[in-house]
Amino acid sequence: MTDMERTPDTSVEICGVKFKNPIITASGTFGFGKEYAEFYDINRLGGICTKGITKERREGNPSPRIAETPMGMLNSVGLQNPGIDGFIKEDVPFLNSLDTVVIANVAGKTEEDYCYTVLKASSLDCVKMVELNISCPNVKAGGMAFGVLPESVEKITSAVKKHCRKPLIVKLSPNVANIADNARAAENGGADCLSLINTVGGMAIDWKKRKPILANVCGGLSGPAIKPIALKMVYEACKAVKIPIIGMGGIMSSDDVMEFLVAGASAVQIGSANIFDPVAGLNLINELTNLMKKCNINNVREITGSLVI
Ligand SMILES: Cc1cc2nc3c(=O)[nH]c(=O)nc-3n(C[C@H](O)[C@H](O)[C@H](O)COP(=O)(O)O)c2cc1C
Repeated sequence: MTDMERTPDTSVEICGVKFKNPIITASGTFGFGKEYAEFYDINRLGGICTKGITKERREGNPSPRIAETPMGMLNSVGLQNPGIDGFIKEDVPFLNSLDTVVIANVAGKTEEDYCYTVLKASSLDCVKMVELNISCPNVKAGGMAFGVLPESVEKITSAVKKHCRKPLIVKLSPNVANIADNARAAENGGADCLSLINTVGGMAIDWKKRKPILANVCGGLSGPAIKPIALKMVYEACKAVKIPIIGMGGIMSSDDVMEFLVAGASAVQIGSANIFDPVAGLNLINELTNLMKKCNINNVREITGSLVI
């Protein structure tokens, strides 16, 4: 068999959970998978991360809540979701039928909300990991996000960890003073894994109308525009902690995937790419396999953290 014929090993293992490949769809950009299953066999994916789930159902923010920007997009969807009970009723039966890793992304306004939803989500058979979105405003702390100060990152992580029956991923916000401090805070709080980055705070203005484009005024920037920011933060977080890291931010090609792995990520998530092209996940898996063959890489795990400075 020639090198070009051999199928490279794309599998990765994170916190004891086995993924077929390092490509996971990112929260909020893939719903609960059902709509995308009409476009391709989503079991090909390494994993699926659900839309943010909260204790109660949420309608989300008023429209317009998406704006195109140069090399990216702004969103202020505002965590529209059916709530944990709606999720269990409407989406879990479909997720139970899948043969890919399901990660439940959880959000909340109070520590109690998070703990309640994490306990319920992590008790489900189909959920193999929980991802904590700490970019939500903490109502008890005057609206500042849980994920801004390292002290509050550690506090929310350790509170949630006690209720989490599956490995806990803490998803870090890039809108912070020092990502390494927040990465360490999550690790100290008991996180099993980190994922980063969430969206970068941004704004778009229609100057002729003297109005913001998003009804919510500001939103979160994602897509290729944020890739260099994400790579730097993944690199810095990887140096700061011992737990595995899932990288994301602007990934559109298999070269982008490789860059995050080289920076230290064990797997990646694909967000806006799913919105630009519904079959992006599948294309990336095929592209990654071909790229590995072309570069004589037999095992994707060899790439993680191989950056030479
Ligand atoms: C429309 C939209 C909705 C999102 N909703 C969530 C969410 O509910 N929870 C969350 O943790 N991240 C959410 N994100 C952030 C993404 O999961 C990801 O962190 C971010 O978009 C960066 O990756 P990308 O550049 O590949 O899109 C959302 C992003 C977009 C574009």
